[in-house]
Amino acid sequence: MTTPSIETRNLTIRFGGHAAVNDVTCAFRPGQLTVIVGPNGAGKTTYFNLISGQLTPTAGSILKDGRDIAALSPSARAKAGIGRAFQLTNLFPKLSVLENVRLAVQARHRLGPRLLRAAGSFGVLRDEAMRHLEATRLAEVAHMPAAALPHGDQRKLEVALLLAMEPDIFMFDEPTAGMSVDEAPVILELIAAIKQDCSKTILLVEHKMDVVRALADRIVVLHNGELVADGEPDDVIALPIVREIYLGVPAGEEAA
Ligand SMILES: Nc1ncnc2c1ncn2[C@@H]1O[C@H](COP(=O)(O)OP(=O)(O)O)[C@@H](O)[C@H]1O
Ligand SMILES: [Mg+2]
Repeated sequence: MTTPSIETRNLTIRFGGHAAVNDVTCAFRPGQLTVIVGPNGAGKTTYFNLISGQLTPTAGSILKDGRDIAALSPSARAKAGIGRAFQLTNLFPKLSVLENVRLAVQARHRLGPRLLRAAGSFGVLRDEAMRHLEATRLAEVAHMPAAALPHGDQRKLEVALLLAMEPDIFMFDEPTAGMSVDEAPVILELIAAIKQDCSKTILLVEHKMDVVRALADRIVVLHNGELVADGEPDDVIALPIVREIYLGVPAGEEAA
């Protein structure tokens, strides 16, 4: 087995007396897309916030490629390859969509001074940004101010910014939430395309069962902050707890 690219050990965070993430030990490997499911309030977003560094755990550890990343700030974690699509807080709302993505591309090129000299010309950065906009079907709105985009396009822009970072770990938290039925497939195709690159690790929080079935190599179930199931999609989907979450069938009653 390959070394996990990201791993949590006994990861726990308490808010007051409530453990939103409770003793979660789980390892994720390159080339694998793991869907994380669970009812509202299960701790899925909190788990992501702990990994990306927005929240500090009460107990436990997080390892990237085997190294503890507790001391790293969220931006240091992003530079280390942990990619999280964020709601538009890190955008420049008055700049165009293209400028925003170009700045993200430039930030990544800056990580290596030699790379900046070799590939840092404005045109090269802009071309690379444009490729991400084409991939996310945003080329037509490239020159609109980012803040003027309709909701579905804003969610696509989050994905374009994530692509520009070229992370090792892609974390998507309900990426198609609030999208129209014709917009969602663009994002899902993109995630499927990222999956073709076997060096990438993908964590996806998603509710729609057809999406889960189409993309998941593995499903992890969180419930009340605890990891309650982890395995092959067919096996996990068949579990009573998952049937209860998704079909509203109370566990033990589906045979009735
Ligand atoms: N910053 C916070 N302060 C207090 N409680 C929080 C905070 N963030 C999340 N929670 C609580 O943690 C639990 C898990 O929330 P969340 O991770 O958002 O669930 P999910 O994403 O699975 O719907 C919820 O009970 C939520 O109210
Ligand atoms: Mg959530």
